[in-house]
This record gives sequence, C-alpha cells and structure tokens, in this order.
Amino acid sequence: MKIITSCSARPLSGKVFVPGDKSISHRALLVSALSAGETCISGLLESDDVMVTIRAIQALGSPVCRENNGVWRVFGSGLGALKEPRDILDMGNSGTAARLLFGILATHSITATLTGDNSLRARPMERIMSPLRKFGANFLGAERGSLPLTIVGAASSVPIEYKLPIASAQVKSAILLAALNTPGKTVVIEPIPSRDHTERLLRHFGVEIDVEEISSGGRYISVVGERELKGNDIRVPADISSAAFLIVAALLVPGSTLHLPQVGFNPLRIGLVETLRDMGAKILEYDSADINGEPVMDISLEATPLVGVEVPIERASSMIDEYPILAVAAACASGTTVMRGISELRLKESDRISAMTRGLRVCGVKVREAQDSLTVYGTGESPRGGATIDAENDHRVAMAFLVLGMVSQEPITVTGAETIKTSFPKFVDEMNALGADLRI
Ligand code: S3P
Repeated sequence: MKIITSCSARPLSGKVFVPGDKSISHRALLVSALSAGETCISGLLESDDVMVTIRAIQALGSPVCRENNGVWRVFGSGLGALKEPRDILDMGNSGTAARLLFGILATHSITATLTGDNSLRARPMERIMSPLRKFGANFLGAERGSLPLTIVGAASSVPIEYKLPIASAQVKSAILLAALNTPGKTVVIEPIPSRDHTERLLRHFGVEIDVEEISSGGRYISVVGERELKGNDIRVPADISSAAFLIVAALLVPGSTLHLPQVGFNPLRIGLVETLRDMGAKILEYDSADINGEPVMDISLEATPLVGVEVPIERASSMIDEYPILAVAAACASGTTVMRGISELRLKESDRISAMTRGLRVCGVKVREAQDSLTVYGTGESPRGGATIDAENDHRVAMAFLVLGMVSQEPITVTGAETIKTSFPKFVDEMNALGADLRI
C-alpha cells in the first residue's frame, strides 16, 4: 500500500502542464475504435483508468500502439465490426470506461462480461442498463444492479427516446454511443446539461448530432445512427479536474503563483473556477483556443484569502468531481461554505460526502453532513491536521487531503494513495517540483 505524508509546503511557483483530460481520453479511444481507419491521439492521459479503456478496445479488435513521441495510434474496427472479447474485461476503478463501453456493446451483436475493483463493483449500473435494454440489449447477472455483469448486445437494435432521470454525462454518453450502430434517430433529453465531450467529439468524427436548448434549461440531443465515422486526429486538452488540485493548492499556500497552459475550459466543466472566484480567488484567463471542438484556456493564479460561499445548486453538474477539493478550500476559508444538491457524490469512487466529512473532522474542521449536502465551517485559520486519512479507493479524496496537508498546522498522511494513478500519476512529483513537501 502506498502511504504519502504531506508536510507544510513552500510557496508553489512555476508552470505546469496538467495531464490530459480523463473524460475526453476515454471517449477519444472508444470513438476511434468505432471509426474506419486510423486515429492519432496526442495528449492522451496515461493513467490506470485510461489503460483500462485501451485494453478493452484491444480486446474488442482494435489494435492500439504508442509512438516514442507520446502519440497513441488507434486502428479502428469500424462501426458494427467489433470482435467478441475472449476474456472478461476488467474495468479497474473506472466508472466512465465501464458505462461508456456498455453503451457501445449494447448495439453490437456480441456478448461480454465486465467487472472491476471493489469500488467499481459497488457502483450502480442500473442507470445505464435501463436505457440500453430499450435498444434491445440484455444483461445477465443483473440482480444486484452492479458489476460483474454480462451484456448480450442487440443483434438488431431499435432507436430510443430517453429522458434522463439524473444529470449524468456517463448515461447520456452510453446512449449516444449505442445510437451510433442503431438505424434511425435516437433522442436523449437531459434536464440539466452535463459535460458534452461526447457530442463535441462525435461532431469531430463527422457524425451529425443535433443539440437544442429547451426552455426548462435542459437539452434535446438527437443523432441518426448507422453513418460511418471517419478517423480524425485528436489532441486531448489538460484536465480541469486534475488542474483543480493545483489551483486550490496555489490559492491556499501563501505566496504561490502558478501558470497552467491550455487547460480544458469547457463551459460545462468550470463550476469550480466560478465558485472559487465567488470565494475571492484571483484566477486570470489570458489566452483561449479551440482544439478539436473543445475550448482551452491559459490560466494563472496567485494565493488569495478565501471566504465561504453558498454554491448554487445548478452549478453542481459542472463541478461534480471538484467537491472534495472545494471542501478543502472551504476548510481554509473564513466563513461557512454550503454545498447542496450533491447526493450523486455518494455514488462516486467512494461516498465522497462521508469520506470528506470524516477526514475533515479528524483534521479539526467543523463539518455538517446531510444526505445531499455538505457544510464546511471555515475559521480563516489553518486547520489542525495531524491525522491519517484512508483514501477509500478514491483518487480525488487522496489528492484533496494531500493539498490540505500543505497548509495544515501538522502533516496529514494518506493511506491507499496508489489510487492517485487512476487520474494523475505524476501528482507527487509535479507538486514537489513546485514547492510541496509530499513524502512517500
Ligand atoms: C464523467 C461524468 C461524471 C463524472 C465522472 C466522469 C464522464 O459522472 O463524475 O468522473 O466522463 O462522463 P456522471 O456521469 O455520473 O455524472
């Protein structure tokens, strides 16, 4: 087991190239596998979660190789041409990989069994099983509604119209991916817009996908299936969800200044930046660009005292993975921060509401937990720290407490820190190079 202790940091300073976006990396690989011809992907996140997707598409018949310059080449099988895998597909810790892959398999006439680690085997799959059954797919071993599960893909799928009962980009994406190998028009209606990387990437691969805003604030998304996807090169932007740990660390450690080039700045992902600005953070944007349909931004930041805020509920889906690190920022702010409408956090790699509550309390922070909210009472003083926290198979919980250790009065130790490899394998080295004192 990996144990990391985070001691007081020196001011963090420098320029950091944040690793590639995890959501876009999974999608880039999966969509390439469904395309005819070759796709080159640069900036792919090379982490455990993404390796799971690479192994899965290889097992389904798409060769993948890495070149010396770090570019990944995928030789797509083409739509409808996936091979039945010869073994169980182990999806490790990755909910995105498992749920999106089920979407693809649902409309291919093959049978496959997916499993995962302890954390993934505890996560709900019914949310994708229910729409995918409507396409004609079948699931075996489905009584518990979680992995391991065998999917029997539909031999001749039918298009569906589905209104998402929850805001989930994974469920939406599973449906859109299933729609690609289905004749006719599939429609997904989302009540609250969630990250739209699948829609943007499909357009980049020549798919006609129609997105309309609806008066309730949601979106009506439609796609006509059985159109060939053309392999197209992809550059993956830096992951705002990984940048989040650097951003909060730089805001909290006095005297810090950081520069983060080309960070993915998709409007449906930047809720944390908006919230930190509401808390008084100085986050400057100074150069924007568009890479394969995704906005990116150069940002720079400097340490700023933060104040507690009430996070607007409607912002939850644009910062869903950032609540653990926001809770750390809130613990160091003056005043109370209220995060509501976040019950989905209980279904992530860990139950993040209770993991953050437990961890912050043992570090001396006052916290109130409810089924769908978390309230953190900041005093403006550095939290005491001096505790050992179990990462609970959750990379974001591990990194959040290591950031807290940089500014707490006494060091914080995180056990089970190997989970950080799922999204940010070089976290410790990058942080230490900037001025942190993380000891393995
Ligand atoms: C993701 C969507 C979000 C997010 C997850 C990645 C994606 O989950 O929490 O880390 O890549 O689509 P939900 O779809 O469950 O909201």
